[in-house]
Amino acid sequence: MLTSAKTALLSFAVLLPLAVFLPRMPAAGVSPEYTAKGELQFPTGYRDWVYLSTGYDMSYNPALQSPGHHMFDNVFVNPDAYKSFVEKGTWPDKTMLVLEVRGGEGKGSINQKGSYQGTELMGLEVHVKDEARFPGKWAFFSFDDTKTAKMIPLTADCYSCHAAHGAVDTTFVQFYPTLLPIARAKGTLSKAYQKETGAPQGQ
Ligand code: HEC
Repeated sequence: MLTSAKTALLSFAVLLPLAVFLPRMPAAGVSPEYTAKGELQFPTGYRDWVYLSTGYDMSYNPALQSPGHHMFDNVFVNPDAYKSFVEKGTWPDKTMLVLEVRGGEGKGSINQKGSYQGTELMGLEVHVKDEARFPGKWAFFSFDDTKTAKMIPLTADCYSCHAAHGAVDTTFVQFYPTLLPIARAKGTLSKAYQKETGAPQGQ
């Protein structure tokens, strides 16, 4: 009786803190989740993942000007994939890269010059590596809300641009400042990227 009460108390003492802290633990061990229809679930918690970079007014098209308003994009990756990239210079299965888009704000509070990011989320795209699921190993998703998104068809230009110009395995590591030196050191930069930049092959 006493023993079981003790055990019960003990397990209560052990389990309670776990129950309290588990849901708030950093997002280690996240992997893509899909609905029965194959749509990707919104990657809640991506803001706790590893931050890679912010692009400011980046454009693929030199003729495209956006007068009067500026755009930021922030890139995040799930912590497991990041750890693996640091070790090997390549992305493991179940990598998820998130690109979120925010508008630039000009004058506000004490800011007189330059731009800071607005609170409104203007877009969110995910690049997922799921080798068994997607024929090309990777797939793109674009979210209109914070629920689910359909896979973007393989004919979209997302795939061709990323495949032709992404520095590592269809991802734009050349623009992620902490990852580029790792890819260089591990010799994992794509041939196409090396050719594009005139970097010596096999380095
Ligand atoms: C003409 C080239 C081009 C096209 C087309 C393109 N992207 Fe990208 N994408 C980029 C560049 C450049 C970056 C790097 C952004 C940065 O540095 O902030 C990027 C980054 C990303 C990232 C961050 C992860 C990664 O792979 O590096 C996602 C997610 C993404 N794009 C989704 C999309 C989606 C979805 C589409 C199609 C609707 C698309 N892209 C079309 C050039 C392109």
